[in-house]
Amino acid sequence: MEILNLNDKDNKLFYIGGVVRDEILNAESFDVDLTYEGNAIEFAKNIKGLKILKVNEPFGTVRVLIKNKEVDIASTRAEKYERAGHLPTVTKIGCSLKEDVLRRDFTINALAKNVHTGEIIDFTGGLSDIKNKTIKVLHDNSFIDDPTRILRALKFAVRFNFKLDEHTKLLRDNYLKNINYDMSFKRLKKELIETFNLNSQIAYEEFINAEIYKLVTPKEASLAKINIENFIDKYKKLINPDNIWLIYLGTIEDLSNLELTKEEQKIINDYNTIKNSQPKNDYEIYKLFESLKPESVLLYGIMVNVEIAERYLSKLKNINVNITGKDIKGLGIPPSSKYNNCFEYILKEKLKNPKLSYKEELALAKKFFEKE
Ligand code: CTP
Repeated sequence: MEILNLNDKDNKLFYIGGVVRDEILNAESFDVDLTYEGNAIEFAKNIKGLKILKVNEPFGTVRVLIKNKEVDIASTRAEKYERAGHLPTVTKIGCSLKEDVLRRDFTINALAKNVHTGEIIDFTGGLSDIKNKTIKVLHDNSFIDDPTRILRALKFAVRFNFKLDEHTKLLRDNYLKNINYDMSFKRLKKELIETFNLNSQIAYEEFINAEIYKLVTPKEASLAKINIENFIDKYKKLINPDNIWLIYLGTIEDLSNLELTKEEQKIINDYNTIKNSQPKNDYEIYKLFESLKPESVLLYGIMVNVEIAERYLSKLKNINVNITGKDIKGLGIPPSSKYNNCFEYILKEKLKNPKLSYKEELALAKKFFEKE
């Protein structure tokens, strides 16, 4: 972590949360969270020459420019969950560092590091939990306040190969027996995306076996029969799916709570449309999948028939007809709907013999129209 060169006379500026955890673990950090013990906005305004880009008064945060980089500084703040499962409200800006830390999710995320002295402040035993690879909540209401933390626990467990502490696990399991569905599914979806984009079979098995999926729907779900991680890994380079998380989530029947985007919903709808189809030959396989996003094809493989999906992905997907309408026109045949029949005829031939050259395709087109 680079030491910021700010004139913080009182030594009240801290790195906080994930960034401290990641540095101790020697892991890559996605963002740098800074907090000022007191009012960060006033602090920033008092630094001579510091460029302030944005101020958010109600949250007590300020965005400043340091060495040409945009940096957010938060005020220490206390929060209250007025509606369990929803965003908390800020009750105090400029509280003590300890109070700020105690509103957080896990001990491993509750460490602070003084920006100037480098001292690590550990109010909750986070250092020893990192050492023991343990994820532990800070209080018994943590999952009731914010059930997305159940997924966060799974995400960190998989990312760092940590285990949940026994009491934390008990609190989780109790919560899952009595879920409050009046929650922010937007936040839940964000954690689902981050967790399952890790492409981890271990995460998936825990998600289903420990019934964490019940956060998404009260309907029953069971484990897919194949190892999803291996299946995705095998084809990831070839097909580059954008939404790996949705391949895992697609094994759960009811995603209606998640407010899927149009594109995400299409992946699920397309899969639902084809899931009862059993194509009997290469042409039928090709036609079933040709216009689908790769996620729908993978879902078919996972849930319906892995051989058929693999046949398409490894053998058929890249087969294309190369001649165009212009080429057929060049043969002296006036444009008509028969062009499409001709392309389908050539496609069928190409699926039997993918090595057919452009010239051979053209010869087939000629033959097709001679027969007409
Ligand atoms: N936090 C929390 N409860 C949540 C989300 C976040 O208490 N539901 C706290 C944690 O202390 C966390 C910090 O806010 O460290 C910042 O949140 P976020 O950036 O989501 O977490 P990181 O720990 O930085 O995780 P990641 O590495 O995945 O970004």
